[in-house]
Amino acid sequence: MAIIIDGKRMADGLLDRVAADIALRDARGLSQPALAVILIGGDAASQIYVGRKLRACARVGIVSREFRFDESVSEAEMLALIDRLNADAQVHGILVQLPLPAHIDANAILDRIVPAKDVDGFHPVNVGRLSTGNGNGNGLVPCTPLGCMMLLDSVVPEFRGLHSVVIGKSNIVGKPVALMLLERECTVTVTHIATQGLPEIVRKADIVVVAAGHPGLVRGDWVKPGAVVIDVGINRIALADGSTRIVGDVCAAELDHAGALTPVPGGVGPMTVACLMANTLTAAQELAPMAEPVAA
Ligand code: GUN
Repeated sequence: MAIIIDGKRMADGLLDRVAADIALRDARGLSQPALAVILIGGDAASQIYVGRKLRACARVGIVSREFRFDESVSEAEMLALIDRLNADAQVHGILVQLPLPAHIDANAILDRIVPAKDVDGFHPVNVGRLSTGNGNGNGLVPCTPLGCMMLLDSVVPEFRGLHSVVIGKSNIVGKPVALMLLERECTVTVTHIATQGLPEIVRKADIVVVAAGHPGLVRGDWVKPGAVVIDVGINRIALADGSTRIVGDVCAAELDHAGALTPVPGGVGPMTVACLMANTLTAAQELAPMAEPVAA
């Protein structure tokens, strides 16, 4: 029977530690960390994710500043807002919820955020730091991959030499998690939905991280007995009775022989939000430090 890795419980623990460090900052007369959250358009999933992020801010003592825009907002207006937030000493973190409408160049927006406030870790400077091994552990690194590594750390005692297969090549998950696994001295194979012979490649993996956005892509017979599987997928599927259900990228019911598996929901999702809070605290600590460092 596979161990089910409880991401909700781990995220609660991380949120409690972030809240305790923020209380410590408060006791020393330092400002509360503040996060600006920008949401453009009415994408249903993005609305839900942003709602969770804002609730987590309230829980740990981070000030949130919400900026919601209609789909029609221009790129120039967005860039001007980011310039203002970059210059605002009361703002420590800036998050632009993705995806953006097609008429806005996401890279232009993400590149405009000053790296010190880039709590998503998407700015080229932070991506570069991660790729040179300079970001792992304490820098501003992308939240979902950071959460995946914390979940893996709870069940994998030693990464060195293990074969990790990443399915998905996105800037948000696939590429950064591959770099983090490489940094831990895994042998990393990065695959994606167009990879030929994907089942055979996955069958060789000790660690599988799936972020493909395809419900039930990874079948039981793709997974080696004892392998650890991190399911990043969050897919809403329609059921025969007209209702909907959230499922991952893995056929969880077929994975009894895995060593460990993250559930969907309740695995990676809560860790993404908790890591965003930890990153916002890190950014605030770098921009407005306490005399003694806090440990998120
Ligand atoms: N959309 C999906 N995942 C993410 C994320 O981690 N950060 C942002 N900003 N947008 C997302």
